[in-house]
Amino acid sequence: MKKIVILFFIAVTTHAIEKNSEPIRPLPLNLKDNNPEKMQLGFLLFNEKKLSANNTISCASCHALNAFGVDGLAKSVGIHGGIGSINAPTVFNSGLNFVQFWNGRAKTLEEQIDGPLLHPKEMGNSWAQAVAKLNQDKKYREAFSAIYRDGITVANVKNAIADFERKLTTPNSKFDRYLRGEKTLSELEENGYKRFKSLGCISCHQGQNIGGNMFQTMGVMGNYFKDRKDMPQTEDDLGRYLVTKRDRDKFVFRVPSLRNVEMTAPYFHDGYAKTLDQAVDIMGRYQLGQKLSQRDITSIVVFLKTLTGETPSVLKKVEK
Ligand code: HEC
Ligand code: HEC
Repeated sequence: MKKIVILFFIAVTTHAIEKNSEPIRPLPLNLKDNNPEKMQLGFLLFNEKKLSANNTISCASCHALNAFGVDGLAKSVGIHGGIGSINAPTVFNSGLNFVQFWNGRAKTLEEQIDGPLLHPKEMGNSWAQAVAKLNQDKKYREAFSAIYRDGITVANVKNAIADFERKLTTPNSKFDRYLRGEKTLSELEENGYKRFKSLGCISCHQGQNIGGNMFQTMGVMGNYFKDRKDMPQTEDDLGRYLVTKRDRDKFVFRVPSLRNVEMTAPYFHDGYAKTLDQAVDIMGRYQLGQKLSQRDITSIVVFLKTLTGETPSVLKKVEK
């Protein structure tokens, strides 16, 4: 009996070690939440239309918290109905990305907030006006002074929103549970994961966020932008070049996270791919130089769907 127990133990631990060596890691399960008042304030600000020049648009207008942090549009709609020039990525798990924005121009979530707030087609505001409007609201005066010694300031607004965003993680996806040895994948899902690794998708989409940790060219193996139909090249297509002005950064983007990707169509910085099948097909052709078989596409998409996680626990705690 003892022998069997020991053997069982060895089998279980080697299994666990095997999973630890996978190139994808699960999200932490229990984020410390020791400041519920601050989370509540961050949530309010994220939904606050007064942060836009004409009180019509909030962060949540383009990053719906009940729709996996996206707006489902190829290009977002900002104040005065202005249509943006690039697809809105999800805010879920964005705190795990090594830089923010498709071209990585913001280093932190705090720094990122200047982008939408000041952008003439997004919220079209100034910080002076945003802070002044919050100051007219007793609810915010009280909430800020309970948390920050200096009350409502630009830095504190950014801090409250960014801290809230850092809690927008989606743990416990089927795949994370598989990595932790709690769940088995179906044969098709497992096969999709194997192909994801053997074809080389994993060389770019990897780590805790299954992406979000490096820059890569869009179109390593072919000219995606030339082949793209009904969408002339735009300035945003230049990607990281807009930040560095180095030729080799043309068409370079931060590799996006694939967590919850099933829920965040359309895909790519241009919102060009409407379905996951199409996105995977394009990745095969332009990133790997391969026309993937329908079988591979199907199994990879089934695998990608195991990356959908739970609603961030912070959203269950804030008062709506
Ligand atoms: C009008 C739509 C719109 C509004 C309003 C908006 N965003 Fe965004 N958001 C976008 C778009 C589009 C991008 C991508 C821009 C880019 O990469 O150049 C983006 C990018 C981001 C990112 C980067 C995610 C990543 O993985 O790179 C974060 C974080 C974010 N927004 C948070 C916010 C916050 C916080 C607010 C409110 C202060 C806000 N957004 C308001 C459309 C919007
Ligand atoms: C050389 C690096 C690289 C490889 C290899 C690669 N990708 Fe990507 N992937 C990217 C980049 C960069 C983007 C963003 C491209 C853009 O927005 O223009 C992306 C975007 C995606 C998206 C869209 C995500 C979103 O939210 O818009 C999916 C899905 C995807 N890749 C899946 C795959 C699959 C499946 C494979 C293997 C068949 C693969 N990728 C191989 C770099 C890579």
